[in-house]
Amino acid sequence: MLAQSRVVDEALSFDDVVVLPGLSPVEPWQVDLSSKASRRVQVRIPLLSAPMDTVSEWRLAAALALLGGVGVIHRNMPVEEQRRHVEMVKKHPLVELSSAAAGEADECCRVREYMRSLGLRQLPLVDSSGAVKGYAEFSDLESCGCGTPVGKLARPGPVFEVGEEARALEEVKRGRRDAAAVTLGGRFLGTITVQEALAVYSPALDEEGRLRAAAAVSPFDARRIEALDGLADILVADVAHFHNVNVLEAARRIVKSLESDFVAGNLGTREGVIDTITRLERVDGLRMGIAGGSICTTSGVAGVAAPTLFAVMQARGALREMGLGLEEVPIIADGGIRGPGDAVKALAAGASAVMTGYMLAGTDEAAAPLLRIGGSLYKPYRGMASRGALERRFAADRYSRAAKRVEEGIEGLVEYRGPLRRVVLEFVEGVRAGLGYAGASSIKELWAKARFARLTSRIGAYTGVVKTSV
Ligand code: XMP
Repeated sequence: MLAQSRVVDEALSFDDVVVLPGLSPVEPWQVDLSSKASRRVQVRIPLLSAPMDTVSEWRLAAALALLGGVGVIHRNMPVEEQRRHVEMVKKHPLVELSSAAAGEADECCRVREYMRSLGLRQLPLVDSSGAVKGYAEFSDLESCGCGTPVGKLARPGPVFEVGEEARALEEVKRGRRDAAAVTLGGRFLGTITVQEALAVYSPALDEEGRLRAAAAVSPFDARRIEALDGLADILVADVAHFHNVNVLEAARRIVKSLESDFVAGNLGTREGVIDTITRLERVDGLRMGIAGGSICTTSGVAGVAAPTLFAVMQARGALREMGLGLEEVPIIADGGIRGPGDAVKALAAGASAVMTGYMLAGTDEAAAPLLRIGGSLYKPYRGMASRGALERRFAADRYSRAAKRVEEGIEGLVEYRGPLRRVVLEFVEGVRAGLGYAGASSIKELWAKARFARLTSRIGAYTGVVKTSV
């Protein structure tokens, strides 16, 4: 006899619910967003970057850690290179690098205007190979003509290789200069300007005072895991379907001896979480959500999904059944976070942090190049199971060839959003406001207090009002 097909659950997504307002003990700006990215890794803000090759390399991971979150370096590159990216974050000074610089051949008058807009007295000059050829001095440029290439007026100045940025910071902080160029292997990497030097940070730091960094791994890739263990604070499993006997067995073999925290995922159901925690000796976090991402096509290709909000609720239920606390095995909500409102819902459901690629892909620090199309600026953003990303992975990792044959993601563009700092600060303000409305002064309090209501129709701005603010 044929088995009866049945609906076993209702998979709620972010747009299906709202968090209800509650009596607030504090003002939004007093809300404490500190949390955990994994069992032993504290963060100042509940935000992780997704390990995707258009998003998370060292530059974004360092900028995010400076703001209190954690970047997860993607694994679509050879092991040694991924290790170098983690090292770069660990070596990074507790200051941002800006992209302020000019080309040697740039017109003097334009560089003058650029320097005026940035309020800088000096600006690094870079040649076409990326070598720093000195600095433009604003006072030298005051009367130069537009036809003069600025390189003609270059003055010598100190250039700092990665690892020496602390000295550069001192130079700028003490007012000796407004801008100090930082190079990697002799090629221009970024500039420490007065703005960056004077910014106040609440970074996510490890026990040695270095920025936090995480790295994506496959449980089958023992060499990669060995190379990153102990260096990355967290090894984040990067598997589309962790609830698979072979994956669980491979993970079981490696987790016991790991120095770094290990986050299992992706998972989508209560059973997946229970099987994972039961079979593995150690699980330091859960990456929850399957096929909910902005670039995912898994549900269309395979008909299978566990929307992120539902997956978080499933994990919370499983932990409760197993007598485990939300802080013992922190839940990371991964996929489909469009802004702080979705993050508040995920946190209210039991997540300790959210993971996003979409929200960060348009920032200066994201790994993909900036594109100008028809007068507007964009950055490429693609799924890690999209054609382009899979091709790159096959080249970097011969084991992956057998693993995935069907594309389950798209390649696209997102609007350019400026510096990461701006996007993250907006996110933080939104999440703080959400907790304020919900009547919680911390994420822990939100877990205890939050109440959801099902929506029966859309609410908020959607009628005929045309948006005029940018
Ligand atoms: P957002 O919504 O931030 O989601 O774009 C990022 C998360 O999506 C997952 N991911 C994929 N899922 N096909 C998928 O089905 C893909 O090609 C793909 N690439 C990334 C991943 O969990 C990521 O963190």
